[in-house]
Amino acid sequence: MNEEEKKEEDIEGLAVIETYGCQMNEHDSEKLAGVLKEKGYKLIEDTEKADVIILNTCCIRENAEVKVHGKIGYLKQYKRENPDLIIGICGCMMQQEGMAEKIKDKHPHVDIVFGTHNIHEFSQLLDAAEEESETIIDIWGEKEELIPDLPTRRETDHKAWVTIIYGCNNFCTYCIVPYVRGREKSRSSIDIVDEIKELADDGVKEVTLLGQNVNSYGYDLDRKIDFADLLEELDQIEGIERIRYMTSHPRDFTTKLIKTIADSNKVCEHFHLPIQSGSSRILEKMNRGYTQEEYLALVEEIRSYIPQAAITTDFIVGFPGERDEDFAETLKLVEEVEFDMAYTFKYSQRSGTPAAEMEGQIEEDVKQKRLQKLMDIQSDISAQKNKKLLGKTVKVLGDGESKNNPERQTGRTRTNKIVVFNSDKDLTGKLINVKINKASSWTLTGDLVK
Ligand code: 5AD
Ligand code: SF4
Repeated sequence: MNEEEKKEEDIEGLAVIETYGCQMNEHDSEKLAGVLKEKGYKLIEDTEKADVIILNTCCIRENAEVKVHGKIGYLKQYKRENPDLIIGICGCMMQQEGMAEKIKDKHPHVDIVFGTHNIHEFSQLLDAAEEESETIIDIWGEKEELIPDLPTRRETDHKAWVTIIYGCNNFCTYCIVPYVRGREKSRSSIDIVDEIKELADDGVKEVTLLGQNVNSYGYDLDRKIDFADLLEELDQIEGIERIRYMTSHPRDFTTKLIKTIADSNKVCEHFHLPIQSGSSRILEKMNRGYTQEEYLALVEEIRSYIPQAAITTDFIVGFPGERDEDFAETLKLVEEVEFDMAYTFKYSQRSGTPAAEMEGQIEEDVKQKRLQKLMDIQSDISAQKNKKLLGKTVKVLGDGESKNNPERQTGRTRTNKIVVFNSDKDLTGKLINVKINKASSWTLTGDLVK
């Protein structure tokens, strides 16, 4: 964008943020967007037209990193055409040892590199990049205090993410998160309640509480409060219709928490409980802190209090040392639990994690075959579960136009299932009833009930 165009639109320039990875990163990107907006930038999608491009990266699996490296290389041509373009790379991948220097050496066209612990410095870094031609690297190690609040620019008006706890203390042996996001740090419940009240005043209907392990909420605070207590408090906030949370650890899911959710009005009946493997032997090697039997008992307990609960999960196949018998246990468990949905991943070796050094790393073709088998079985189960809703009327919170089919609208049930329906009115943020007439593994389709 040239100076004249900027003046005409009365903006500083055009900016793109590309986000990789989980909701935590998406939420960080909302903060980056807030900073850009305050500085007068207009956010767009098209990297070709941008004056500032920020990549917020993920490193949970190798393919996430490969994508980012590819994208940075691709951006080089834009920088050649427009030397004033500012390219910034941030997020989890940058917190890995040596990564920032590697980016600087390999991709000198990058202007700023920063990490997850100092996104509040983004504004100053942008200013500095305008003056400096060399890559500016500013990565912080972990600090005691929490990241200061930043202005947020949300993608949607009716839904919002709210971080309740940062970091993770679990050290599952495959996982890089505790190394790049640091130790658990809970936000004060007063701040959380205030933030959600403000969101409610702004018209937000649904909040999703974020944390790597939300069940650990409050353990590090002076004031005695745990996740169940927090949910109970949040349930009282007027204007909010739905409360969700991500992600919870099966080991820390207490009876008190299940009862609190069962008694609440707003906390949704959706339990995302990553199991990772159905084999207790592998679970132990993963340092998950529960056995297959304990997980099954938890599912039973949840269903005894909340029969209509949807239960979803994550699986990793091909963890080091996973034998055919272990994988068979996973398949058996999948059939037994009947998850509503599962995210399935091939184990990815992350350097610096204990599992990366373990013996018995599994060949790629074995991982691929196991993944396919698991996905096929789960997909049938998801379809069967969704078919049970045929002919039923479900409460849906409208999310607006369907991305794949702009003629139609989408929304979600409290159990987090996607529902597609026809409407001539925009029903974003509205609670509506939809009668389901078609069900597949991923979506439900239905008609509005007046
Ligand atoms: N390889 C594959 N999947 C992983 N996950 C975390 N680390 C790895 C890894 N090294 C998956 C887990 C987790 C989800 C967010 O990502 O299933 O629950
Ligand atoms: Fe990673 Fe385990 Fe922490 Fe989840 S609980 S972020 S899988 S270490």
